[in-house]
Amino acid sequence: MPRVLLLPGDGIGPEVVAEARAVLEAAAPDLSYVEAKIGGCAIDDEGAPLSDETVALAKDCGVVLLGAVGGPRWDALPPDRRPERGLLRMRKELGLYANLRPATVIAALSDASPLRPEAVEGVDLLVIRELTGGIYYGEPRGRQDSDGVRRAVNTMVYDEHEVARIARVAFESARRRRKKLTNVHKANVLEVTAFWNEIVEEVAPDYPDVTLEHQLVDSMAMVLLRDARDFDVVLCPNMFGDILSDEAAMITGSLGMLPSASIGDSGRGLFEPVHGSAPDIAGSDAANPLATILSAAMLLEHGLDRADAAEQIRKAVTRVVDEGYRTADLARAGETAIGCREMGLRVREAL
Ligand code: IPM
Ligand code: MG
Repeated sequence: MPRVLLLPGDGIGPEVVAEARAVLEAAAPDLSYVEAKIGGCAIDDEGAPLSDETVALAKDCGVVLLGAVGGPRWDALPPDRRPERGLLRMRKELGLYANLRPATVIAALSDASPLRPEAVEGVDLLVIRELTGGIYYGEPRGRQDSDGVRRAVNTMVYDEHEVARIARVAFESARRRRKKLTNVHKANVLEVTAFWNEIVEEVAPDYPDVTLEHQLVDSMAMVLLRDARDFDVVLCPNMFGDILSDEAAMITGSLGMLPSASIGDSGRGLFEPVHGSAPDIAGSDAANPLATILSAAMLLEHGLDRADAAEQIRKAVTRVVDEGYRTADLARAGETAIGCREMGLRVREAL
């Protein structure tokens, strides 16, 4: 019986994970669950944002559903002891080098975007972000004060193996979609991304059916706003992907709707909503659980090879949104919002 590790984390994490678990129980009754701590709550209770025991549990289970980490309570901690480090360690320990962030505009929600509805209707793109390398992990890093001068350093570094494997994930994904791949770089300034492009070009001939184009990251930030619909799969080094996936999320207008999957070659995976811990609304039943519910669908599809059950969940979510149910983040002036628990219940009923 497959076992899922639940890591609810901080802020609204526990509320949205509870709803996603209930949906999973309805869609895939044979799964079992264990729960552990990550992030700020783990700092408080276990002294570190991610314990060795929890890492071992994650490796043992293979699939992890995470809520969110972080909050103002832990903001004053030094970078190496913050809640976010728990997440970074988990990604690295599980070898989750590929982060898949689909940004899709659901027709019934196209007026939630800050852009004009006609500019975003039909947007359906997939950001593929390299997740265990680049400037997030490169050495040397940290403070390097010397001779009374304060100084700090981070290092952006990739080897060919790291670039080739994420490029393959991107080409494979494009092949299953609209067969267009946009590679994001800053080769006019950074040698490491010129090298990245070189490796992507070396992989490309294995995918003659996929059209490859390159975009400078600054220009990408611009054209993504102007022509979001033109993009299919967008491949990014770690930090560019962090930034552009938030931009893509905002374009859809519904950060509370966007799931993500982090996967590697081991068959293991971590599934989490793109949104954060929203401490301002935590505990008030106001969170939108749909991003976590859709992350549970990605867990079924990418983590457990159950595309059918995943599709059922996605259809149920679309139906509930089409019927007009909105949590506070989605409701417009004059519309009544339902709570997190009721939204979860509606999805289970629609299943
Ligand atoms: C994300 C988040 C994380 C990241 C933080 C919480 C460490 O912003 O998943 O996009 O930067 O990767
Ligand atoms: Mg981010």
